[in-house]
Amino acid sequence: MTTISVIGCGYLGAVHAAAMASLGHEVIGVDLDQRRIDMLSASKAPFFEPGLEDLLHDAQALGSLKFSTDLSEISAASVHFLCVGTPQRKGELGADMTFVDAAFSSVLQHATAGDLIVGKSTVPVGTASRLAELAGSADGVLVAWNPEFLREGHAVEDTLSPDRLVYGVPDGAAGEQATTRLDEVYADILRRDTTRLVTDYATAELVKTAANSFLATKISFINAMAELCEASGADVTQLADAIGMDDRIGRKFLNAGLGFGGGCLPKDIRAFMARAGELGADQAVAFLREIDAINMRRRIRMVDLVREVCGGSLIGKRVTVLGAAFKPNSDDVRDSPALSVAAQLSLQGADVVVTDPEAIDNARSRFPELNYVADTIDALRGADAVLLATEWTEYRELSPDQLKSVVGVPAILDGRNVLDPGLWRAAGWTYRALGRR
Ligand code: UDX
Repeated sequence: MTTISVIGCGYLGAVHAAAMASLGHEVIGVDLDQRRIDMLSASKAPFFEPGLEDLLHDAQALGSLKFSTDLSEISAASVHFLCVGTPQRKGELGADMTFVDAAFSSVLQHATAGDLIVGKSTVPVGTASRLAELAGSADGVLVAWNPEFLREGHAVEDTLSPDRLVYGVPDGAAGEQATTRLDEVYADILRRDTTRLVTDYATAELVKTAANSFLATKISFINAMAELCEASGADVTQLADAIGMDDRIGRKFLNAGLGFGGGCLPKDIRAFMARAGELGADQAVAFLREIDAINMRRRIRMVDLVREVCGGSLIGKRVTVLGAAFKPNSDDVRDSPALSVAAQLSLQGADVVVTDPEAIDNARSRFPELNYVADTIDALRGADAVLLATEWTEYRELSPDQLKSVVGVPAILDGRNVLDPGLWRAAGWTYRALGRR
């Protein structure tokens, strides 16, 4: 059993704290946000994440998990995980390191000799060695970088059953010591034959940014093919199925549509470009600019398509947007393609109604000017066009026959290529999608 502190209790930290407690460790989670700490202390997840509340509840019932806003409480711990955010800097591509730097200095103040500070946040390459240098003056404190690859909506399983564990450690005896400590923390996961890669700081940091860049590239690649499919009359979903059958390519992350959003992929590729520039290697990732541009073009194309379906003008047209979250099984609306399209439609004069099973409150706080309706059927009433923007299961399962009498004009735009065009057309709907005839 290790005594662990987790600094920052957002998507990453809250799940990590609960998961570490479920592995049998004594855990204290710290965050400055009193409301978030109160909720977590009451075993309530401050955001929608399947399985998190059960994990919180079980660990708190055992007494092995506590949350606090008081950072001094971490002094009881010997391993400290940094799980704070690295958002995009306002008006720039680079990552805002304020939270990581502040959290690291605070932990240093409370850490004692022999403690291990483990970074989990996604950071520009070079951060870990910079922080380790700062720690060098503190007596015997070790630094490791252990990136996290969790997906929102699958965060609990991704944390407890990861594809791999990556440790970025310093050279020599300090590195061996850090590795042993991390092996103790992850003993249960390693016992299940999980691959663990031990490397230097820079490689560990790059593994995370490279993985996210690759995923973004896969999505933008298929979306670029969708543009070609639109120009040539081909079907991007069949194309993705066919190329995905080649094991070397794989079908995952080849779903064309409105593209990627969320708190990670968009800001991570931008921060990567900024950092590469600082390192004099901007040409190496210049292609990411195009990946970002392809991604943003899908949103513009969808607005054009909705306008086209509405007869050339959006003014006064009622458009129902199904979904506000950046992806299903999440209430996260950061850089959500759904909301960005909804806001653009509204700016162009449409009367936009947005619905979502989980994300309405978050959406309203970011885009208060849009109309939100919780009930799907109510949201669809009288619509001149319906846009499926986030592929929640309940939207995939909507019945075109039943909905026909609810909407004003039976026209559906499938922003995620998840509906059966034959079924909707047979029921008398106009069906349009990105990359499909
Ligand atoms: C991502 C990475 O997957 C995860 O490993 C990393 O730790 C954090 O960033 P997440 O942001 O939770 O996770 O979402 P993800 O499931 O990767 O989806 C990102 C976006 O891409 C979503 O907007 C999703 O709708 C979109 N997407 C995904 C596609 O447009 N097409 C696809 O084929 C897959």
